[in-house]
Amino acid sequence: MEKSITVSIDDRLVKAQPGQTILEVARSAGIYIPTLCHYPNTTNVGACRVCVVEVENARSLVASCCMPVSPGMVVRTNTPAVRAAQKMIVELLWASGDHNCLTCEQNGSCELQDLIYWLKIEKPRFPIEPPGHFPDNTNTMIYRDLNKCVLCGRCIRACNEIQVNEVLDFSNRGSYAKVGPAFDADYIDSTCVFCGECLQVCPTGAITFKQAKFGGRPWELSKTRTTCTYCGVGCQMDLYTKDNKIVKVMGNRQYGPPNEGSLCVKGRFGMDFISHPDRLKKPLIRYAKNEDFKETSWDEAFTFIAQKMQGIKEKYGADSIAGLAS
Ligand code: FES
Repeated sequence: MEKSITVSIDDRLVKAQPGQTILEVARSAGIYIPTLCHYPNTTNVGACRVCVVEVENARSLVASCCMPVSPGMVVRTNTPAVRAAQKMIVELLWASGDHNCLTCEQNGSCELQDLIYWLKIEKPRFPIEPPGHFPDNTNTMIYRDLNKCVLCGRCIRACNEIQVNEVLDFSNRGSYAKVGPAFDADYIDSTCVFCGECLQVCPTGAITFKQAKFGGRPWELSKTRTTCTYCGVGCQMDLYTKDNKIVKVMGNRQYGPPNEGSLCVKGRFGMDFISHPDRLKKPLIRYAKNEDFKETSWDEAFTFIAQKMQGIKEKYGADSIAGLAS
């Protein structure tokens, strides 16, 4: 391990490893620096500049998510210049989109909304001019409203670096810039596999869970960690429920392996079978060929299975029976 170095952050001496960013060191010391475009396990791109800090002898404010620490570095995270820059950035983001929290599905779970509140901004100094994009409402799983996009690029990096699907990227320039699949296609007409990683990392209401629309406000939902029931990988997921019904599913990042918070299309969007009226809830037995299935009790079903297996064992020997559990 390389020798640790010492830096000063807000007049506190903090130990750091060479190569760590200011943001990483500050967070490990419990010092809060706001972020928007930064997302764990993806490249730091320094797109939003919300994480700016003052570094002694630097010519300008620096993006703490991208700047590595150096020995003796003196950092200040809460000076008037830092707060003024953060306010300006957030006000510009607010003004350049349609951040209407009244109808936004992410109200109460939006990082832009949290930042506005934390910075005590009552309204932007600039006229609000949303870009006027048409929402992508062409599939049953993901709803995209790019008028709420802050161009942080988290969905692009999640798609390309975490899921390695390489569907999303920026197109156009300046105030015309937008995120989407190649040739501006809707998700349904692109190579998107609907893993929903973009939805999971989006900090605003730009990419949301379509099945969850009007299903419940974030503060009305209960969160339960569980294991996906589809394949044998054992992906960890959080079920968000209201009135005993699943509203949406997110990958659980805290647990770590095997999925590190990612999910596939079935795990994320295929859980509606749980409360489907046709769901099988009692065992069914067909006693003879060409007979219909009959509803039965678990006791009767297990007795039936045991008798059948006993019969196979007696007729063909124990080696004729194998089990596979997942
Ligand atoms: Fe550092 Fe966006 S979080 S530039």
